[in-house]
Amino acid sequence: MCGIIASLSYSDNVSKDLISALERLEYRGYDSAGVAYLDDNSSLKRIRTVGKVQHLKEVLEKQHIKAHTGIGHTRWATHGKVTESNAHPHTADGVAIVHNGIIENYQELKKQLVNEGYIFESETDTEVIAKLIASHIKTGEQFFEAFQKSISELVGTFAIVAIYEKEPDILLGAKKGSPMAVGLSPDKQSGYIASDAVALSTLANELAYLEEGDIVVVRKGRQLSYEIFESNGQSIRRETVPNKVSLDDVSKKGYDSFMLKEIFEEATVARRTYEKFNYDIDISEFDNISIIACGTSYYAGAVAKYWIEDIAKIHVDVEIASEFRYRNPVFAKNSLYIFISQSGETIDTLCAMRLVKEAGIKTLALVNVDTSSIAREADFVLKTEAGVEIGVASTKAFVAQILSLLMLCYKNIDIKAVELSINAVLNGNYDFTRLANKIKNSRSLFYIGRGVSYPIALEGALKIKELSYISAEGYPAGEIKHGPIAIIDENVYTMALAPYDKYFDKTISNTQEILARNGKILLITTSDAKDLLHGIDKNDNVECVFLPPNSPLYLPFSLTTFIHLLAYYTANAKGHDVDKPRNLAKSVTVE
Ligand code: AGP
Ligand code: GLU
Repeated sequence: MCGIIASLSYSDNVSKDLISALERLEYRGYDSAGVAYLDDNSSLKRIRTVGKVQHLKEVLEKQHIKAHTGIGHTRWATHGKVTESNAHPHTADGVAIVHNGIIENYQELKKQLVNEGYIFESETDTEVIAKLIASHIKTGEQFFEAFQKSISELVGTFAIVAIYEKEPDILLGAKKGSPMAVGLSPDKQSGYIASDAVALSTLANELAYLEEGDIVVVRKGRQLSYEIFESNGQSIRRETVPNKVSLDDVSKKGYDSFMLKEIFEEATVARRTYEKFNYDIDISEFDNISIIACGTSYYAGAVAKYWIEDIAKIHVDVEIASEFRYRNPVFAKNSLYIFISQSGETIDTLCAMRLVKEAGIKTLALVNVDTSSIAREADFVLKTEAGVEIGVASTKAFVAQILSLLMLCYKNIDIKAVELSINAVLNGNYDFTRLANKIKNSRSLFYIGRGVSYPIALEGALKIKELSYISAEGYPAGEIKHGPIAIIDENVYTMALAPYDKYFDKTISNTQEILARNGKILLITTSDAKDLLHGIDKNDNVECVFLPPNSPLYLPFSLTTFIHLLAYYTANAKGHDVDKPRNLAKSVTVE
């Protein structure tokens, strides 16, 4: 998702700060980037490029820019193609703005501004914001008032920062629906506004997070300062918190990608989650539990359903947030609603939680960022201890999510068994490169499993889809014969998750149904099933992988690490950038 950064400084190296922050913001996912700054004559300048931030950096460095005021942006396009003219910042009459979100009433605003004589250069919704501010300034409003009035006319979601060449000593920011943080450098010589703590990990140690409707002014006076105003115009002091993102978090530490580094942290994350788990909510007080999330976080909820119903005997519903929030849900009485989100900023999950809160029902957020919007608005927060997750594909956070959910319903976890099951895969001698080369050219992939292996199959299919761009489906193994088996032929590879548990024999039967139709199978099982394969391991269309045997409760952890590594190696085999998969964003703050 878009990333925004703004810097106001006594020093003239703002362009360096902007690039440093934009490099940190790359993890959010983007397709173009740009900066705008006020040069030493306080004239507004703008540079935008399509593609990687590195390209923008090279262009900027050639120009040896000296600037005290500037804004920067990584764009994940929602309105308008990926072109330089659609890249942010957008400008009008000396005003420049960057924006994360969607302006839903941009068409009517654009019509009104065109009638006033403004000429639009982009297809974006965002450009109306710049022209709107300029139009209010033209009527005689000061920059702040023009900004405030423009913000009040916007419908939609936004984190916006604006600069104006006639008022070079202030930054103006506004937040509604998309995240925004403000902070000062340790020497108080620079002030920043940004999308998140990662952007400011090397710039600001203390941050304040804006709330819905807030406007922030960063200004240069006798000293650099910032002031936050609520939507009613009242000045308010928002709590400052330490910027917990360390340099370690934002470095690859010798791995070739953040994703591989974060997969190799999965055992450590499991241990830390276990040791730091301090949530004393007693879920037995509830008759129902509803888990609402998106993507990988939804699959973590789907895993938890099996555990909670089996162990705590409580009915569990698991729902996709974007469906839940629009279907006029009937709220089950005495229910606990759990919202799972690694980023804590996924707009569909946030809005689903607001819907439940409006019904007067208590909400529990299971999030990896405890300063996020979902964390700040939930009634209760359970923080996953995955540490900062930079790779767009969520890996270690998923492990922290499922372990946290298991600990909500089961108090006798053998954490050593969990660590051993993960480390056995991380340190095992599985030839992932060979496996990846076998599946990477398949026309289509299936991941199948039964019981709690089924949501792990869903997670495996998502991972390989989002990283290798191969069409992949997760399916209940018992469901394949109800239609999908029609797709099976020699160009289709099925990853069969069949550890030696109570479903094993049934899943093996399902793999035989696939083999009977020339389908190819990667059988991911456990070594205690080696003599129970009824000869299918001798079939030329079958490749077997044996994970260490374990209690059924802990098998999902070794299966998870295995499918994460398989996705990583398959994407690598296809030459893809695993940290920045095409079209994807780390935090989906737009609908
Ligand atoms: C996971 O690998 C994907 N990047 C995506 O499905 C992600 O899980 C989803 O967007 C939800 O994100 P969240 O956990 O931050 O809410
Ligand atoms: N809607 C804006 C655009 O398309 C910003 C997109 C975003 O926040 O990802 O340029």
